[in-house]
Amino acid sequence: MSKYKTKVVSTGRFIPDKILTNDDLSKMVDTSDEWIYTRTGIKTRRIADESVLELAYLAGLDAIKKGNVDKNDIDLIVVATITAEQKTPSIANMVQKKLEIENTQVMTFDLNAACTGFVYALEVASALVQTNFNKALVIGVEKMTNVVDFTDRNTCILFGDAAGAMIIEKGNDDIFFYNDSKGDLTDLLTVDDKIHMDGRKVYQFAVDIIPKSINRVLEENNLTLDEIDYIIPHQANVRIIDSFIKTLNLDRDKVLINIDKYGNTSAASIPVAIDEYKDDNANSVKNVLIVGFGGGFTWGAAIIKI
Ligand code: ACO
Repeated sequence: MSKYKTKVVSTGRFIPDKILTNDDLSKMVDTSDEWIYTRTGIKTRRIADESVLELAYLAGLDAIKKGNVDKNDIDLIVVATITAEQKTPSIANMVQKKLEIENTQVMTFDLNAACTGFVYALEVASALVQTNFNKALVIGVEKMTNVVDFTDRNTCILFGDAAGAMIIEKGNDDIFFYNDSKGDLTDLLTVDDKIHMDGRKVYQFAVDIIPKSINRVLEENNLTLDEIDYIIPHQANVRIIDSFIKTLNLDRDKVLINIDKYGNTSAASIPVAIDEYKDDNANSVKNVLIVGFGGGFTWGAAIIKI
């Protein structure tokens, strides 16, 4: 359990233009709109012509503009991704270059925690801004089409491309985290050249771990669900989301669901959803609980004020 004093300065996102529908996919593999929608809740996903770097940069730029932030105040960039086109330099490092940040000292690195990446990255950045860092740019970006095998109907229907960003600094708001992992389920979801997944086992793990994560971050911080205005889960499958809504007896209107539009965008799904939520709630500060799970396995939840 961890708790930090962190202010969310602004959020941003970049969504690629090109749309891939379920009908498009049914021309590529043996599937149908009906199968995909009823099993996953996905209608469309986005396909990027942009590189991972460009997606990350555009989301970061959006957060800088929305927050009216001086880019040279940013001295920490953490990028959560598993789909970078090259191993080094890091996407974070190249984002610094593309943003032309001229700070005297800047730390930049990428972080791999699969779909939990953004929650992990936000905790790392929150911890670091308690020290002498000024402002951190945290990005979740994925070009899943870099690793999707478009001949495998088990996986190619699920994923899409996007990027989301958040700028944070040391502040007066409490931000709570519970991040965790387990190293003995590594075979269930792997990306070497292409993505391989045992969908059913991942599903079973997710429906078990998500309500537990939500309860844990609340209990360890003496909070209750009534004190949470909104829940933003990783968007992997609408049935996984509906399952924890039922387990926790939640009001469905209190949970953000946008998987129908974007599919599973891995580390980007939570920051994209946060930014969409922020667009609709621009003038009010809300207590939002984010929760993610992904390959490893990794999982985590956080309570933030946005
Ligand atoms: N179209 C039509 N039929 C299909 C398709 C498809 N796209 N994909 C699989 N099928 C078939 C299978 O071959 C199988 O046929 P069979 O019974 O003849 O063998 C049948 O449909 C049922 O397949 P299941 O895998 O049992 O289907 P299930 O109901 O479990 O749904 C799904 C599959 C959607 C992948 C589900 O298991 C799931 O969502 N799992 C979690 C995935 C997830 O969350 N992944 C990401 C987590 S971490 C991260 O985000 C990186």
